[in-house]
Parts: sequence; structure tokens; C-alpha cells
Amino acid sequence: PAVLVNPLRPALLAAARSPRLERTVSRLGLTRRVVDRFVPGESEASVVAAAEELLASGRFVSVDHLGEDTTDAAQADATVAAYLSLLRAWADLPVPAGTAVPALEVSLKLSALGQSLPGDGEAVALANARTICRAADAAGVWVNVDAEDHTTTDSTLAVVRALREDHPTVATVLQAYLHRTEDDCRALSGPGSRVRLCKGAYAEPASVAFQSGEEVDASYRRCLEVLVRGQGYPMVASHDPAMISAAEALVAGTGRGADDYEFQMLYGIRDAEQRRLVVQGHHVRVYTPYGDQWYGYFMRRLAERPANLAFFLRSLVSR
Ligand code: FDA
Repeated sequence: PAVLVNPLRPALLAAARSPRLERTVSRLGLTRRVVDRFVPGESEASVVAAAEELLASGRFVSVDHLGEDTTDAAQADATVAAYLSLLRAWADLPVPAGTAVPALEVSLKLSALGQSLPGDGEAVALANARTICRAADAAGVWVNVDAEDHTTTDSTLAVVRALREDHPTVATVLQAYLHRTEDDCRALSGPGSRVRLCKGAYAEPASVAFQSGEEVDASYRRCLEVLVRGQGYPMVASHDPAMISAAEALVAGTGRGADDYEFQMLYGIRDAEQRRLVVQGHHVRVYTPYGDQWYGYFMRRLAERPANLAFFLRSLVSR
């Protein structure tokens, strides 16, 4: 079947980067009714409650404090403080016993930790990420470093390499739409290496990224094969039934145990499928974002799927 591509995707992804549109959309007062479908809330309490519910249903979580493209050091410091506070709040959470895999993870965006600050941005982001990694290690929580647009890929992978010297379980994300990613998968498929494989959510030029859905899916399958046949811990991040069944077949064929890989989906998307995979005996981790800077994240979700956009437009009309 033809892969459904949202014709408005380029426009929505451009809008995701527009501060002017962010102010307009934020003024619509959508937070409660529309944004809550993808974001459990703005407060730490709301994400702790959401995590508790997911854990109770047998799922794991990876929590992201929303924010990206930070332009001042104070904002990056505030992001670090938010993660440290979340890690303290998690100390009281009832975590399922008996799994070899930590049920709790935090996902970081280096651009929220200072990566794009002029001058020594990469060093600032590394120092900030180290602070979070130390607290996470002490709490038995995993850390993942998200992938952002392709101009940051080399810098992000360098920061992850540096973090892994002291914190070997730190994971990163590879995006199947980039031409380079199959090679990156090979480089990161060694023992202990945790990689989240996703299709990729940003608007990228043809010079660096596959443009058609078919090409991205073919790349995803090749990358999946490299990771699952490798020695690391693959994290299959997709809602696509075709990618999920490809992964199910590969893990069965390679004899991986349930603690040697996981599926991942976004909060609010394909809840029934998440539960089905848990019933089948797979680990499923739900990427759960919180905070008031939901605009960029929300717009990328709208760009992914015509149905998400229709849902948003319907809710505007029925307000
Ligand atoms: P895609 O959007 O192509 O959808 C394929 C099919 O999935 C659809 O045709 C439909 O069948 C099904 N489907 C999708 N949504 C559905 C819905 N709401 N209801 C029912 N069916 C639905 N990106 C990035 O650039 N950097 C990152 O760090 C991350 N991190 C990340 C973590 C996790 C856990 C996930 C799941 C995703 C990311 N992403 C990401 C986002 C990712 O790159 C990608 O944009 C989205 O996951 C959408 O791609 P899919 O693989 O889900 O398939």
C-alpha cells in the first residue's frame, strides 16, 4: 500500500520553528483540550501521575522535559534543575520489581541544555548532561539523548560518546530518514550500546535525508536489522504496524530475550497497541513529555499524520 504522506508536513514543520506562530497558537488556549492528548500536563506532578499509571499497566516510561533551542544559559540551568527535581520526585514511585531493565528513563534534548549557545555550547550541554547523568545513575534511572535536526547530529553523537565514558548505559537516538544512519547503526551496535531507532521528525533536505515514505521505511528496516543482529540493546520507536511486525520477526529469529530490546511509542498514540505488546511479553516504554514549552513537540505530532491535524482543526471549530 502507498505510504500516506501528510501534504502539509513541510509547512507544519516550518511552523514548528516559528516563534511568531508559537505565540499565536499559545494564545488559542489549547493546552487543556488538544495538547493534553500528547502531553499529560505542564507540571511535574502531572507527569509523575502519568508515569505511575503507565507503570501500573506494565509499561515503562521515558520522560522528556519539554523545551528545545535554548538561547540563554539560565534557561539551560532551569532545565537541569527540572530534571533533578523530577529524579527526586521519582524516588517515591513504586517501580515494578523483578525486571532486569530500569522502568524509568529520562530523555534529554541537548539543545535544551545549551548545545546551540554561541561559542562553547557543546561543552555547556555536555556539562549539564553530566549533572543529570550523575543524579540518574544514583537513582537507578536510565538516560537517553534525543536526536534533533541533522545540523546537530555530529555534535550530539560526540557528547553521547563522552557521557558514555562515565555512564555506559546512556542511550541515543538514530533517525532512519538520514542517509548516514545505517553506518551510525553499525558503529553503535556493539555490546552495551543502547540505540532508539525512529524514522525522524524534522524537515530535512534531500542532500542528507530520504524524502519518500517508502525510502524511509526501507532504511528503517535495514537499520533495524543491523541493530537487532548486533550486540547492543535496540529500542524500536515506531507506531507503524509494518515496522513493529518487522521487529517482532527479527527479535524472534535472533533469539533475543525480553530483556534484550524494547518497543517504544509516544504518550497518547496507539495505547491499545502498546498494551497488546506488553501482553505479548515485550517491554514497551512510553515517551512522555511534560512542561509548558509544548509548541514544537505538538507541531511535529500534527505534521506526522493527517488524522492528528484533523483532530486539531475539529477541536478549533467546536470550541
Ligand atoms: P509514521 O508516522 O510513518 O506512521 C506509520 C503508521 O503508523 C501510520 O500509517 C499508522 O498506521 C500508524 N500510526 C501512526 N500514528 C497513529 C495513531 N495516532 N493512531 C493509529 N495509528 C497510527 N524523532 C526524532 O527526530 N528524534 C527523536 O529523538 C525522537 N524520539 C522518539 C521517541 C519515541 C519513543 C517515538 C515513538 C518517536 C520518536 N521520534 C523522534 C519521532 C519519530 O521520528 C517519528 O516522527 C514518529 O514516531 C512517527 O513515525 P512512526 O514510525 O510512528 O510512523
